[in-house]
Amino acid sequence: MIPKLWARRAVEEMSQTLLKTCKSNRDLCSLQAQADFKHLVYYLNNDYHKTMKAVHDYVKRDMPLSFILKEHWFGDLRLKVRPPVLIPRIETEHWINQLLLKEHDLSNMRILDVGTGSGCIALAIAKAFPSSSVVGIDISKRAITLARLNALGNKVGNAYFIRSSFKAFATNLQNVASFDLIVSNPPYIPHSRRLPKSVRCFEDRCALYSGPDGMQMINEILSNYTCLLRPCSNDGSVPYRLIIEFDSPNHERLPPEILIRPDQFNVPRTMWI
Ligand SMILES: C[S@@+](CC[C@H](N)C(=O)[O-])C[C@H]1O[C@@H](n2cnc3c(N)ncnc32)[C@H](O)[C@@H]1O
Repeated sequence: MIPKLWARRAVEEMSQTLLKTCKSNRDLCSLQAQADFKHLVYYLNNDYHKTMKAVHDYVKRDMPLSFILKEHWFGDLRLKVRPPVLIPRIETEHWINQLLLKEHDLSNMRILDVGTGSGCIALAIAKAFPSSSVVGIDISKRAITLARLNALGNKVGNAYFIRSSFKAFATNLQNVASFDLIVSNPPYIPHSRRLPKSVRCFEDRCALYSGPDGMQMINEILSNYTCLLRPCSNDGSVPYRLIIEFDSPNHERLPPEILIRPDQFNVPRTMWI
């Protein structure tokens, strides 16, 4: 049994963390933090044992809040999240917002999301452009199950999820060449990097690490993506054919002609080709 005073302090600490996130990151995280906060208050008011378990998981096990609360907001999508499928990150939300709000019209397109995880990217695009169809692929069965659940939960009917490795998918579809745009937040952490316990112990290694320099999966996509693309119509309707999130130190390894965009912390984060 957790002593009451200790538990109260821990709950206060959790609330403070959430409030700080609310204040410091008003544009990006406030929705998420407010939702988390409401959840926490619900626990506190309604279920002592659930609250105690949440406190224990958060303080003793370093479990991320989204896994404790079992949900995560990504834009206006309310997503279920479960370990070991990766919790969507705010850096990803940032470039997806750029893509959806500032870029060209993505209506009536076929879009591929490589390494879809919870389905956050595929579902955000599919929801914003109902006339388009978005295919999300992932090597992990648990990710695909979760992405399908999230499509149902958010009433998105134009996103389809397939369990496959990128290589197998590209090999099987290379003669079909049917996508207008490919997007991906692949695993991109170098093998030698030690991650915090909250990541290491709860999220799939295969969602995080990718070779000695973090470029293995990215290089696989760069070498194979063109065979999946429909020939360009040249009317400027598809300004980019491939968008990939990457580990910022790798930006120096990328060819200079590739457009690199920073994230909200001004760190190089995505390539637009
Ligand atoms: C960084 S996570 C991104 C998840 C989600 N797109 C997001 O932004 O939250 C990378 C995902 O790629 C998947 N993955 C790893 N290797 C893969 C491969 N060879 N082919 C397809 N998917 C892969 C992992 O299972 C994981 O779900």
